[in-house]
Amino acid sequence: MRSRRGLAATVAGLAAGSLLLAACSSGGDSGDDTTSTGGTGAGAGDASQVEVFTWWASGSEKLGLDALVKVFDTQHPETKFVNGAVAGGAGSAAKDLLQSRLQANDPPDTFQAHAGAELTDYINAGQLEDVSSLYDEFGLRDVFPKDLIDRLTVDGKIYSVPSNIHRANVVWANPAVLTAAGVDPNAKYSSIADWTKALDKVKASGKTALSIATTWTQVQLLETTLLADLGADGYTGLWNGKTDWKGDDVTNALKDFQKLMSYTNTDRDGLDWPDATQQVIEGQAGFNVMGDWAEAAFQEAKKTAPADYIYFPVPGTDGVFDFLADSFTLPVGAKHPGGTKNWLNTLSSKDGQLAFNKAKGSIPARNDIDASEFGAYQQTAIASFAKDTIVSSLAHGAAAPIAVLNAISDATSKFTTGASDLAAFQSDLATAAAGQ
Ligand code: GAL
Repeated sequence: MRSRRGLAATVAGLAAGSLLLAACSSGGDSGDDTTSTGGTGAGAGDASQVEVFTWWASGSEKLGLDALVKVFDTQHPETKFVNGAVAGGAGSAAKDLLQSRLQANDPPDTFQAHAGAELTDYINAGQLEDVSSLYDEFGLRDVFPKDLIDRLTVDGKIYSVPSNIHRANVVWANPAVLTAAGVDPNAKYSSIADWTKALDKVKASGKTALSIATTWTQVQLLETTLLADLGADGYTGLWNGKTDWKGDDVTNALKDFQKLMSYTNTDRDGLDWPDATQQVIEGQAGFNVMGDWAEAAFQEAKKTAPADYIYFPVPGTDGVFDFLADSFTLPVGAKHPGGTKNWLNTLSSKDGQLAFNKAKGSIPARNDIDASEFGAYQQTAIASFAKDTIVSSLAHGAAAPIAVLNAISDATSKFTTGASDLAAFQSDLATAAAGQ
């Protein structure tokens, strides 16, 4: 089994142009550290409770959170866990509510934020405390991939602690539905265009060919279609200015997106991701494009791959890992910073990361947990993360600031619920991305 420490080295190698971290600690797992209120560094203060703000409010996502809380209760019985979860996949409702609380100086003790541009938004707004000292205290500098720490760092300071790494570019499928439609479940698709032949057959069989839900899941489908058609460099260029949003290759990708949307369920805008994935689980739909939190939903439904479900990278994206990571913060003005410190201690510990990621479908951010601890899907994700080209997810905060994602989401919703004017859509996207 490939060790995650070797994996971290590979990822670090991929992070072109990144600087070596100035500080290095002795490392080691201090997951059983129970210090809480002492000292004057980050996390000094009231440890009686911790309000944890996430969008892991129900179903398999709540089961993941519960698994982490169980470890927390064992490691830090002195701190009461207060669940501040707000329902809505991808933080579709939570992020706005969080913003109003931050503006009103009423922050939760810790909140979930995506590594990358989204986190940088909070850092630039002065809403987060530097938690670098906790990396030293907990021995974390050596146990997370350097590329990941770079995405959490601004001006040499680290502002959050990652709990997990998810992959966004995955297709989940029901083999029985495919077989009944005359589609070979073992077929490989080289591109979106190639995949549409199978989608046509599932559609003709009377099932939903491609299940989807509300706007953010459509943005995630858009992101993976752009990735499939433009390739990793072309897709990354959308976020660093090197790819022209008005170019013909983007037009062609948007045509593919429009084609894919034509295979989806019409009640999509009233659904969230668990409903869309459930359609594949229950055999109402053939395929679903979803991040690998879907794996947790298949596990919750007691399904086994490959008999009950199959998975593969979105056609055209094999060899690319569309990355996102959840991380947890210490907001400026948190009322129970000692509680936050204890929460960050547990979620960064080996026991915390193992329990949480086993239940969540993600892979640990720590690089010292053996892949054999995880199920078959997660082992493929661990292997892919070690060797694939890593790109940043748009829908999950890694690629673009929140304002840009919001503008792209508005443009996408306008396109998929309205007149379907492709030229106007492309122009709206170009305007949205220009806000970067
Ligand atoms: C992502 C988050 C994942 C998962 C997903 C669906 O933004 O990073 O952990 O919760 O949303 O809600």
